[in-house]
Amino acid sequence: MTVRKVLANAAILLAGGVDPDAADVGLGERFNPRLDASLLLAKTLGLARHRLLASLSDQVTAADATVFDALLSRRLAGESVAYILGSREFYGRPFLVDHRVLVPRPETELLVALALGFLDSFAAHYGGPLRCHDACTGSGCVGLTIACQRPGLSVSLSDLSAGALAVAAANIRALQADGELLGAVDCLESDLLAAVPGTYCLITANPPYVDSTTTDVIFSGGSVEPRLALDGGADGLRLYGDLAAQAYQRLVAGGALLVEIGEEQGAAVAALFRQAGFRDVGVKQDLADQDRVVIGYKHEAD
Ligand SMILES: C[S@@+](CC[C@H](N)C(=O)[O-])C[C@H]1O[C@@H](n2cnc3c(N)ncnc32)[C@H](O)[C@@H]1O
Repeated sequence: MTVRKVLANAAILLAGGVDPDAADVGLGERFNPRLDASLLLAKTLGLARHRLLASLSDQVTAADATVFDALLSRRLAGESVAYILGSREFYGRPFLVDHRVLVPRPETELLVALALGFLDSFAAHYGGPLRCHDACTGSGCVGLTIACQRPGLSVSLSDLSAGALAVAAANIRALQADGELLGAVDCLESDLLAAVPGTYCLITANPPYVDSTTTDVIFSGGSVEPRLALDGGADGLRLYGDLAAQAYQRLVAGGALLVEIGEEQGAAVAALFRQAGFRDVGVKQDLADQDRVVIGYKHEAD
């Protein structure tokens, strides 16, 4: 069978037996049968995706078809393509992922963009050297992207999960090997910032913020992401108060805390920031115009 035919059959299977080009097949926006099928077949054949699309008339061998069917079965069972491939692109770089970490989401790129903007204005105002810490780091996608984008900055990472830190350490090695990451990055096991020493001009975090009931629904739908990465307690806000209080103690004057939030949580998280002492607290929207990031500053006089 040709690559074209294998892809078409797989896309229909992934779309639940419906032609994915049909006008409305009721698929969620994260679910793209044609893209998923081509990513999995490219992985099977050891090709970059653009090379696969240049090979649509080639024959797929029986051995490759067997390997592809196994990957397709995992996708049909609900496993994320990122876990099957072992990698997900974030801010233009590949990050290794497995079941020990959350798959990086595109909306988290806003946290990075705002962090870079803050670091540039802090450096212009106060000079360097600058230190930044990323808590709840998971794969390390936020902290390591900041480190890659701003060489010379000192960056450290922490997470409560030893498994997540092992994935973050693998990403450090991979980015260093690719020449993307120039300096060393420390990884620490810590409950929020409890075991994180030193002071910082910027602390970032994307903590678990899904409420427990919704987390249960996500898991009943077959998700295999770590519960620790999603479940933010009864209202999803369990970690923000302690995180804000701990961050305030570790920030230098003029420093900032930047956190990702769920779209309904802006007002509540902003209030927790103010309670911890932060000033000029702001809620920022993502590309879908949803509240996504809260930022607060530690003033010089504080
Ligand atoms: C939503 S994931 C974010 C991962 C990554 N920063 C990202 O943006 O893709 C949340 C992370 O917080 C970690 N975590 C959960 N509770 C924690 C705690 N009390 N202290 C530190 N990390 C925690 C989880 O292990 C998980 O890696």
